[in-house]
Amino acid sequence: MPSSPRGHRARSGCCADAVTVSLSPRRVAGVTYSSEPIHRRRRRPRPSSWRTHDPEGPLVHETIVVGGGAIAHAHVHAVREHAERARVAAVVDVDADRARAFADETGVPRSGTDLAAALAGVDGVRPALAHVCTPPGTHVALATQCLEAGVPVLVEKPPALSLAEMDELLAASERTGVDVAVVFQHRFGHAGLRVADALGEGRPLGRPLVAVCDTLWFRGDSYWDAPWRGSWEVEGGGPTMGHGIHQMDLLLALLGPWEEVTAMAARRARPTQTEDVSAAVVRFADGTLATVMNSLLSPRETSAIRVDTENATVEVEHLYGYTDQDWRVTAAPGHPEAASWWTDGLDPDAPGSSHAGQVGAVLDALDAGTALPVSLREARDTLDLVASIYASAFTGRPVRRGEIAPGHPSYTTMAGPGAPWSRA
Ligand SMILES: NC(=O)c1ccc[n+]([C@@H]2O[C@H](COP(=O)([O-])OP(=O)(O)OC[C@H]3O[C@@H](n4cnc5c(N)ncnc54)[C@H](O)[C@@H]3O)[C@@H](O)[C@H]2O)c1
Repeated sequence: MPSSPRGHRARSGCCADAVTVSLSPRRVAGVTYSSEPIHRRRRRPRPSSWRTHDPEGPLVHETIVVGGGAIAHAHVHAVREHAERARVAAVVDVDADRARAFADETGVPRSGTDLAAALAGVDGVRPALAHVCTPPGTHVALATQCLEAGVPVLVEKPPALSLAEMDELLAASERTGVDVAVVFQHRFGHAGLRVADALGEGRPLGRPLVAVCDTLWFRGDSYWDAPWRGSWEVEGGGPTMGHGIHQMDLLLALLGPWEEVTAMAARRARPTQTEDVSAAVVRFADGTLATVMNSLLSPRETSAIRVDTENATVEVEHLYGYTDQDWRVTAAPGHPEAASWWTDGLDPDAPGSSHAGQVGAVLDALDAGTALPVSLREARDTLDLVASIYASAFTGRPVRRGEIAPGHPSYTTMAGPGAPWSRA
């Protein structure tokens, strides 16, 4: 799913307007939607009841979308792919017109600007999940509000602007006992899951040795017209934070923990405070060396990962999502079994990487009462790599995983000691 160049004014904090109802009264999966504004309706909070139950059908999870912009469409579409077990009940946006237009366009029954009202739910039944789809600078405050209302969260990437904010969110999740998952949809494609499972000593692909991870995308100047783009304070960074984070997260899902990074970053051509390109070399805990490029300056766009292992080269090349066909395995001399492992499991109809795949996994976890994927702890490792790429680029020194802790200049902002181009 592409990051959208669509612009609009993003304000922080929700106003207290009533949530309005955009459809006439009807009954869906045990929940009656009324045309009366939600703030005037009787609410009977039932803290332990966060799923709706249609006595004649399966358990259905009601979710709400916070932020009715570009990526929110992917969330509604993803939930529709699981229509038998979930539905989006309401959309909340700081911009009432935008919320209403989103609801009309997507068929979401209710829309409004009051997140507290949406979190209180309908007829006292709280939503099972809040999809936080707002600009990055609002994620932690909105997710925390959801947690405090007892509603689990699926928050868009990047989950937080800094490791300090990420730790605040982790603390809020621990304090409330309510779970947060982060959207990293590329972990959930059929081929990605297969490859992750096949890497390692004694596995079909063997030990990883060398890797390449490229997010080479193109965004013209108008992309930065949106008020939240291009600033350390609201977007949190450039292609390293906002775009390459997807491939880097997939790389970590494949290779395991990273250990040390050396990086450079530059602002070469775009109207942004942040970098528009970064280049890094990463050493993983198992010794694998990887290069990581993140760019918004690259006319032939690609998202690609290549891992050379003991037994094969495994590669994926796509843009915003892959299917099995986007992967290729080339066996090393003397290891034909790696190629046959790959072709034996190929499935042209298998799901690719998409929000629908991750939403399915989140619904499975809600059903099972297990941790929602991708967990905040795993997402923190990815955010630590992003922070460390910036820290290395801005200090000229290698940075180790975990080194950016309270007191470090890069703990509270990805800008750390400041980008060289801002200091000039
Ligand atoms: N996973 C992916 O592939 C992917 C792709 C694109 C964007 N994203 C991420 O999704 C998030 C949103 O991006 P977008 O392109 O949809 O943005 P967008 O600007 O199109 O939409 C954001 C919406 O949030 C609303 N909003 C802002 N502050 C709010 C608040 N405090 N409360 C409620 N609503 C608020 C805005 O009015 C707007 O309608 C970003 O974090 C972005 O990085 C993820």
